[in-house]
Amino acid sequence: PLVTSKEMLLDAQKGNYAVGAFNVENMEMVMAVVEAAQEMQSPVILQTTPSTVKYAGLNLYYANVKAAAERASVPVALHLDHGDSFELAVQALREGYTSIMIDGSHLPLGGNTKLVRRVVEACHPCKVPVEAELGCVGGKEDDLVNHCAGLTEPEQAVEFVQQTGIDFLAVAIGTAHGVYKGTPRIRLDLLSEIKKRVFIPLVLHGTSGVEDDVVRSCIQEGICKVNYATDLRIAFSDGVKRILNEDKSVIDPKIYGKMGKELVKRYVQDKIWVCKSSGRG
Ligand code: 13P
Ligand code: ZN
Ligand code: NA
Repeated sequence: PLVTSKEMLLDAQKGNYAVGAFNVENMEMVMAVVEAAQEMQSPVILQTTPSTVKYAGLNLYYANVKAAAERASVPVALHLDHGDSFELAVQALREGYTSIMIDGSHLPLGGNTKLVRRVVEACHPCKVPVEAELGCVGGKEDDLVNHCAGLTEPEQAVEFVQQTGIDFLAVAIGTAHGVYKGTPRIRLDLLSEIKKRVFIPLVLHGTSGVEDDVVRSCIQEGICKVNYATDLRIAFSDGVKRILNEDKSVIDPKIYGKMGKELVKRYVQDKIWVCKSSGRG
């Protein structure tokens, strides 16, 4: 069923595992992620960015995820990823999204805090949890290229969490959105400093391209939600291309959609394994 991400991530925090959060773009990707989670008896989060929301509308993603979640016995949450305005956050909340990220990480600290606080005040009466980011995850997410390199400052994180009342904190510890050019240097030392001071579940962004063993270490150090986007897009497109390149006469979207879905499903199952959330659903 469709539930909020609150209990899911608190359970993960207690159990020393993480819940995978997978960005979806279309119905096939929604089906792939929920089926993967169901087969592995794992809780799961599906998420959409503002550009994805713009593509088909909040209500279409909500309807897809709600229907898929109702077929499943495992807990499924629908999360707004990198929400870029108070208005969009509230629209997603009204539509039925069960988890909201408001990303003011590009703003000065005061502006970020204020924006996040407002979103928390809107979401908490509806029992919907809020994720926010402090410091800056680089790379290209959505239409936004982020050039900042500022990592999360542990003392600042403590104040930010207190002042905003957020449920989950996205940390900047060296990951970046998109495909990495070289090998990313993930600051596990910094993560452990943050974890010593901040007691809410921590979120890792930019995980496509991060080695599984590094992700496992991050989970050991307190990461409870692990975001994957780029690699799912690649997997889906690879599946579609494989079919269309093999047989130019294929015209049925079900034929190539199915292969796209299959490759996404395999990828998600692999990452659920990394997150150690199987059997927790
Ligand atoms: P990647 O595209 O690098 O997997 O990042 C995902 C993410 O952080 C979504 O919010
Ligand atoms: Zn992200
Ligand atoms: Na990445």
